[in-house]
Amino acid sequence: MKKAFIFDLDGVIVDTAKYHFLAWQNLANGLGISFSEEQNEQLKGVSRIRSLEKILEWGNKTISEEEFTRLMTEKNEEYLSYISKMDVSEVLPDVPRVLDYLVSENQGIALGSASKNARAILEKVELTTKFQTIVDGTNVTKAKPDPEVFLIGAKELGVKPEDCIVFEDSVAGVQAANNANMISIGIGSKDVLHEADYVFADFTEIDETFINQLIKK
Ligand code: BG6
Ligand code: MG
Repeated sequence: MKKAFIFDLDGVIVDTAKYHFLAWQNLANGLGISFSEEQNEQLKGVSRIRSLEKILEWGNKTISEEEFTRLMTEKNEEYLSYISKMDVSEVLPDVPRVLDYLVSENQGIALGSASKNARAILEKVELTTKFQTIVDGTNVTKAKPDPEVFLIGAKELGVKPEDCIVFEDSVAGVQAANNANMISIGIGSKDVLHEADYVFADFTEIDETFINQLIKK
């Protein structure tokens, strides 16, 4: 039976969460706002605009629209400088194995990311061709936890939402998958991702038996 497997990018396929963290931390510190790993957790899966709004809220700071745009550009430029150095070695363990298995089983494979840099990153790590459709920050109007990004992916693959399985590392993303009526698989910590249907530390824990169960469900 054909299912669709929808992958988030940042923190699922590649560990770019650390680069987002470094760039946001630099920006926050420049504004005199402290920024912790716990706060960063709340920015995972969250759009660039909303992330900056949240940091300003935490720091109790108001800035002009002009300054807001300038800071977003600066953050993205720093982030781009990190990702420009990426290569295939930064693909997270066993992601290619799982992708290749899904390809061999003729399953639908989509990317569902909030990032406007998603295509550039997939190119850097040479995974673009594994995806039948790529839905990213340039295609959506509503940010996770809204289900829009995943529903577009399902539609483009011609698969019903209840036959879709989403891999996500963020709380907002797991909620988006649940809101889409899809099966949610958290990649990360059970404590953080307790709303997911299943949670694995990483893809090395996801074997063929488990994937077969999902395909035949
Ligand atoms: C998500 C990341 O995938 O994309 C967020 O988890 C990021 O941290 C968001 O803010 C938007 O990404 P970008 O690359 O367009 O700034
Ligand atoms: Mg993510």
